[in-house]
Amino acid sequence: MKALVLSGGAGTRLRPITHTRAKQLVPVANKPVLFYGLEAIAGAGIKQVGIVVGDTAAEIQGAVGDGSRWGLEVTYLRQEAPLGLAHAVLIARDFLGEEDFVMYLGDNLLQQDLGDFVGRFQARRSRATAPRLGEEGLAVPSAQILLAHVEDPQRFGVAELDVAGRVLRLVEKPTVPPSDLALVGVYLFDSRIHEAVASIKPSGRGELEITDAIQWLIDAGHVVLSEILAGWWIDTGKLTPLLEANRLLLEAIERRIDGEVDTECQLDGRVIIEAGARLVRSHVRGPAIVGAGSEIVDSFIGPFSAIGPGCVVHHSEIEHSVLVGSARVIDAGRIEDSLLGYGVEVTRSARRPRATRLMVGDHCLVDLS
Ligand code: DAU
Repeated sequence: MKALVLSGGAGTRLRPITHTRAKQLVPVANKPVLFYGLEAIAGAGIKQVGIVVGDTAAEIQGAVGDGSRWGLEVTYLRQEAPLGLAHAVLIARDFLGEEDFVMYLGDNLLQQDLGDFVGRFQARRSRATAPRLGEEGLAVPSAQILLAHVEDPQRFGVAELDVAGRVLRLVEKPTVPPSDLALVGVYLFDSRIHEAVASIKPSGRGELEITDAIQWLIDAGHVVLSEILAGWWIDTGKLTPLLEANRLLLEAIERRIDGEVDTECQLDGRVIIEAGARLVRSHVRGPAIVGAGSEIVDSFIGPFSAIGPGCVVHHSEIEHSVLVGSARVIDAGRIEDSLLGYGVEVTRSARRPRATRLMVGDHCLVDLS
């Protein structure tokens, strides 16, 4: 079994962060989203991983390297343009060969154990039984998808199931969704998917959709099984879900204080202070994490905050926010529900008249409420 991880794409919904950074490398709980996927793949016992990369190839390669840190052998597959998830499978043809594989979207985070999901597919694939009417669940599947009930199915691929739970139809981002069951970004395929991705045409948005390729398998009479996800799942490509993922992952951290904390600090509950971080007269209320080399002085770091490495926070309060790294937040008052990119400065100067003075790039969001 191999893995195909998709880390190309444009990342328009997380602009401006993704003007300069791959969306799969935006950190949650101080670790790039993509790394959680790679850990899950390694945990499922898979070794050979193809990572599909686009314009941000150099950055992804720089962060992941050869994958040996997770015991993986990584091959990079260059996609010239984000022409769709099925296009990514198309360009990975030589890498994948005839093997079964898991396709994992690099911006998805899920709690469910990948090993169990893969294990059930492999067990069903090793069965020699031919499908009998009404017993497709026992048949050898060509694909296995993961579904989750969501409130906003229009944002996803959506599945329509029959009463027995078999997949009848899949539609990508429908205006009138046939159900509330969204396709989670983890799919299992056998080599028949290659014929499917080579047979479909681009969708209305100009992409080769994996939903259409799976629909092709169904129409060709192949068995596509589905499972309903256990636990949480987040497509981190937008600010609110990203902060939610950060919250969920911080919920699970264990207290660990490796940095320098003076006697006037107060650390409540599950707090991680990385080695090389320095805290002076500050209060951290967990769950929260302060990255290596950060300096927190006369400040409050509230629950669900992830302060990346090398940040400076003085006389400020931060809650339910992600600071990617090397941010400077000085006399900034209270910051909530925010994502601050690399090297961002938020300061209050003594200049008169008092005013909001900004230097913000394209597609930034400044909420002055
Ligand atoms: O998150 C689950 C959803 O992911 C599914 O419900 C949808 O059916 C599926 O189409 C996909 O929708 P998105 O619009 O969220 O896909 P996005 O463009 O964000 O791409 C997902 C990942 O794949 C992301 O890490 C970027 C990467 N990608 C995307 C495209 C279009 C590529 O590597 N190459 C591509 O051509």
